[in-house]
Amino acid sequence: MKTVITSNVTKAVEILRNGGLVAFPTETVYGLGADATNVSAVRKIFHAKERPYDHPLIVHIAGIEQLGDWAQDVSSEAMKLAQVFWPGPLTMILKKQLHVLDIVTGWQDTIGLRVPRHPVARSLLHEFGSGIAAPSANKFTHISPTTAISVYEELDDEVDLILDGGDCAIGLESTIIDMTSTVPTILRPGVITPAEIEDVLGITIRSSRQDKPLVRAPGMHHLHYAPKTKVVLVETKNIANSVKKLATQELPAVVVTWSDVVLDADVSQVKMPNDAAAYAKRIYQTLRSLDAQNYQVMLVEHVPDGLAWDAIRDRLSKASQ
Ligand code: TXA
Ligand code: MG
Repeated sequence: MKTVITSNVTKAVEILRNGGLVAFPTETVYGLGADATNVSAVRKIFHAKERPYDHPLIVHIAGIEQLGDWAQDVSSEAMKLAQVFWPGPLTMILKKQLHVLDIVTGWQDTIGLRVPRHPVARSLLHEFGSGIAAPSANKFTHISPTTAISVYEELDDEVDLILDGGDCAIGLESTIIDMTSTVPTILRPGVITPAEIEDVLGITIRSSRQDKPLVRAPGMHHLHYAPKTKVVLVETKNIANSVKKLATQELPAVVVTWSDVVLDADVSQVKMPNDAAAYAKRIYQTLRSLDAQNYQVMLVEHVPDGLAWDAIRDRLSKASQ
């Protein structure tokens, strides 16, 4: 099987209808999609990603009008969030409709639903007309791809077609909120913050910051969002010392910073933006390209405390475990 990289949406729809795999761009990261109603097609996703079957998939739909096809007993709060944040980087966990395949939901009675806003994803979903089950298009526990080429490098020829939609604008996976719990609960932080959701709902929600451990926390596998090279998080004030230590051990290292900390000229350093959105957009691509070089360690500067950095802090801390 040979992967085709193209912008031909009609061809992608044909492949989905025939039970094949299509990687497609979303505003967050690239997804690895299959017809959510076709068991053997969905099984191919797990095979390509080498992902355990108990990790459920998000079903992507074209719009709020398809919500009832996949979820039942949708609360007025969930409807409000859909109206405000869709299309966009919000995934809601809802009670599933009976027909939804067990392989999609990991044998749970809930389903993760999202309407992406990337124009290529939107036209794919409109033309396909039904739900597309899609996790991020990377091998299990690796970094999510944010370009078409990274998808190809991750999955080789295990995907029939990759829709090229350029670089993902956000660069980190969607915010996941469980709307089936008594109090809505954030299961995975993303660019849509708890404060924005609380503003819309007018109630206090729960987020992983306040409440640990979480029950069905996605991405809670001990290693996730991780490059192969060891990642060590370092506070700004300790960077210079850590670099010195590594130098005495003669370990080839690279330092990823965002502040204006100045290091010796002979240390490899990658300077990231000091703005959270710009940092998020670049971080996976940066880790991916550093991973392809021969470093033994990546020292990554702790990111700032602010809410806007929550999703980034979450992914970096998982990458470093
Ligand atoms: O931005 C995103 O969300 C991307 C794009 C492609 O949409 N998708 C993505 O999918 O990140 P994935 O599979 O890599 O991460 C989705 C997470 C998984 O950790 C999974 O466990 C969780 O969502 N999830 C899916 N359905 C769930 C459910 N019914 N209950 C609890 N967690 C669920
Ligand atoms: Mg993923």
